[in-house]
Amino acid sequence: MAKLARLRGIKIAYDEAGEGAPVVLLHGFPFNRSMWREQTDSLSNAWRVIAPDLRGHGETSVAGEVATMEEMAEDVAGLLDELNISRAVVVGLSMGGYVALAFFRKFRERVRALILADTRPQADTDDGRRAREETARRALAEGMGMVADSMLPKLLAPLTREHKAEVFARVREMIVGTDPRGAAAALRGMAARRDQTDLLPEINVPTLIVVGTEDVLTPPSDAETMHAKIEGSRLVKIEGAGHVSNVERPEDFNRALGEFLASLQR
Ligand code: MLT
Repeated sequence: MAKLARLRGIKIAYDEAGEGAPVVLLHGFPFNRSMWREQTDSLSNAWRVIAPDLRGHGETSVAGEVATMEEMAEDVAGLLDELNISRAVVVGLSMGGYVALAFFRKFRERVRALILADTRPQADTDDGRRAREETARRALAEGMGMVADSMLPKLLAPLTREHKAEVFARVREMIVGTDPRGAAAALRGMAARRDQTDLLPEINVPTLIVVGTEDVLTPPSDAETMHAKIEGSRLVKIEGAGHVSNVERPEDFNRALGEFLASLQR
């Protein structure tokens, strides 16, 4: 059952499990906190895990026609305030990574360490922005089935699509379960996001970068760029995973996460 917080004029749903130092898990687009199930189970032995639904996703309210990465980052900060957490490890996958970078820019003193998975620092191209607006309009007019149909071939690695029917079904279910208004607002927010490349050299907390070797949306080359620009960062490639590497290869993803988090406690 989701926990609920009312803040910043919206209702935020989140999962919370375990005790210890806090780790916040930020999901991708157009998913929800359930994508972190395996990570929540594995980390909550040693950490206090908090996984919110970002605005417009899952059980969190839709608010307005544009949901910027900064607003989502402020929601996360508000939730941490509500939970009396001053500092946390921040983990973001894809759009969650955009939010994690926006969070670092605004609230760097609250970030103990960063994990950036299947994400990128650069802003959209003009073509990318136009495509997002088109998808936003179609999602509002036709519903999320078309978003699922157009995204799924790119989200998952060929091996996942062919041999892991349950992963395919789980990802599809998250997409079609997203409110089209929330998806459209996030698409417009992602289209408006700033380039964060200049922030990377300023990241002075332990950082792990994770990418699926088959990720075609935010490919390994993006991860390598972040790794080169974030001093002291670690890079782990998840063999055979696509863009949703934590769901496609949870054991490998959890191993990378677990080793990195253990290194913070030494
Ligand atoms: C995501 O998985 O969050 C999205 O693919 C990110 C994006 O569309 O840029």
